[in-house]
Amino acid sequence: MGALTHGAKRALRAFVPLAVRKRAAIWLGGRTWLTPRHWWVTELLRDYAARDPDGYHRFLWAHHLGYAETYEVARRFGAENINETRRLLFADLREHLTGLGMDPQREVHSVFEVGCSIGYLLRFLETNVFPAAESLEGIDIDRHAVRAGSAWLAGQGSKVRITVADMADLDRVVGKRRFDVMLCAGVLMYLRRESAAQVVGAMLRRTGHVLALSGLAHPERDNAELEESGVRARDGTFIHNLDAMVQQAGGRVVRRRWEGARVVDGNTIYFVFAERATTTSGSGREQGT
Ligand SMILES: C[S@@+](CC[C@H](N)C(=O)[O-])C[C@H]1O[C@@H](n2cnc3c(N)ncnc32)[C@H](O)[C@@H]1O
Repeated sequence: MGALTHGAKRALRAFVPLAVRKRAAIWLGGRTWLTPRHWWVTELLRDYAARDPDGYHRFLWAHHLGYAETYEVARRFGAENINETRRLLFADLREHLTGLGMDPQREVHSVFEVGCSIGYLLRFLETNVFPAAESLEGIDIDRHAVRAGSAWLAGQGSKVRITVADMADLDRVVGKRRFDVMLCAGVLMYLRRESAAQVVGAMLRRTGHVLALSGLAHPERDNAELEESGVRARDGTFIHNLDAMVQQAGGRVVRRRWEGARVVDGNTIYFVFAERATTTSGSGREQGT
């Protein structure tokens, strides 16, 4: 398809039904010898990405295509493989909890991660950050990642439990339980603003002490000033105003970090930590309302 002209690619997208092109994308994803596979998949589905970005990203992740391919057990588990942006996020998280008068090593009992992939961050939290946590759970739409991660975690005797689910179904999946720490890193950028805001609301309702969000920073303006979400040209992901989403959901931003154009591990840095307006801690407890 690399040799195809723009006109031929447009014609292909116009005349071959999306369902057929999706099947072709899944087939291409399995051909490990083919480079660059992600480029081919992108070209096949370019119109879908423009029309329905949520559906497009969901499709790619659910089938472990494109950017999902680096989420493999051998590449991600282990403290030495945790990238700099996540280390920074966890350092901020530790500092925030300490500032609340808590000992993160002893007093964090439950963690939930939305978009946990193979569960490698939860495992790092279990071994290196919150060793007293009895409950470490996560969901992800990538079935391949969850299956591979679960098998590895079971072999380590880990308490981490991860399951396949769409973050849009968080209410149903988590029910009324609440977790000391809710985490969502590098995930909301795959949803349009309205859908992302709903997920933020659902996470906040289940937050005991703190909700930790990591998103893409706008390179020039602090995200908190954005009236509309931006789009990163390279992959069609969204640059959101997470501060506004927290406020819209009735939460309070308690700590944040915005580093503008600085790129670390290929991404800009924007963290938002939030609490429900009235916070009472509670590992896996029932919600009051
Ligand atoms: C960039 S990865 C981040 C993984 C991990 N949180 C980290 O920080 O490395 C984005 C993750 O979000 C997951 N994801 C994307 N859309 C999702 C959805 N609708 N529901 C649940 N998970 C989703 C992907 O499968 C992927 O594992």
